[in-house]
Amino acid sequence: VQKIIFDTDPGIDDAMALLFIEASPALDLVAVTTVFGNADIDTTTRNALYLKDRFGLKAPVFKGTDKPLVRPRNPSPTFVHGENGLGDVELTGLKPAQPEARPAYQAIIDLARENPGEITLVAVGPLTNLALALDADPQVATLLKAVVIMGGAFGVAGKPGNVTPVAEANIWNDPEAADQVFTAPWPVTAVSLDVTTQVVMTPAYMDALEAKAGPAGAFLNAISKPYAAFYGGRDGIIGCCVHDAAAVAFVIDPSLFEVRRGSIRVITDGIALGQTCQKVEGELFGPSAWDDQPIQAITVGVKAEGLLKLYAETM
Ligand code: BDR
Ligand code: CA
Repeated sequence: VQKIIFDTDPGIDDAMALLFIEASPALDLVAVTTVFGNADIDTTTRNALYLKDRFGLKAPVFKGTDKPLVRPRNPSPTFVHGENGLGDVELTGLKPAQPEARPAYQAIIDLARENPGEITLVAVGPLTNLALALDADPQVATLLKAVVIMGGAFGVAGKPGNVTPVAEANIWNDPEAADQVFTAPWPVTAVSLDVTTQVVMTPAYMDALEAKAGPAGAFLNAISKPYAAFYGGRDGIIGCCVHDAAAVAFVIDPSLFEVRRGSIRVITDGIALGQTCQKVEGELFGPSAWDDQPIQAITVGVKAEGLLKLYAETM
């Protein structure tokens, strides 16, 4: 069973991913760390605690950072995730809940040190907590088993960007943090828009989940409706793209994906801010900022039907 720290900005598809982790017998959720992104940090942390309470999660919730490393925070995408971050679906039974005292980056460091080589960090929001952990304790990069992120858009398939023509939201929300995470010596896999836009949960799929997956299925169907409305047939998508849950699926069954290896950099200024670019291992160029960087993986293909089946069966 794989130990997981889930770094998240819930977020509709974050909630889908969190309940997927909780339901999977292959995964053991040891902590949830929150970050700003789909909403401000108080809202994303409140939502993580709400999901923990409503669905009986055992893992502690650690509150993360409220802003990117060096730039002001982008406005919350309320037109995607609603004012409350969960599609403005009513949060019945909401109680005041307190996160753990330690900040998220410190919890990542402490858990990595207590379980050396055993934890996979699944990060599905802006990568700021991960960068703060690297700053505070660079050795953390040698203590995790793997880092799997939902983020980036490499232009190999699917959509090249979703907040700009070239930038994906999680990277665009903190490009400096993302560049630091990709160039640190821990093994990173970026499950990017290239594949996540190829996996769609249709309204019929969500109805079936509601029928078969108990209270979690009903909740997921409810929050999926405003998310599907946002996609609203754009790019031919009827339903919800499976972003964050795809990163979880990668941990459970990497054979669902095709990967490509190479060093990764993030554009941190100019009109391509937040673009992710991989120099494929073995390709020859002149000297560049991609040289002498760790070789990381990106996903370039996905078995969409297999992923959807895994999610439904797990739930
Ligand atoms: C990513 O951005 C967020 O809006 C989603 O939760 C997902 O993590 C998709 O670009
Ligand atoms: Ca997210």
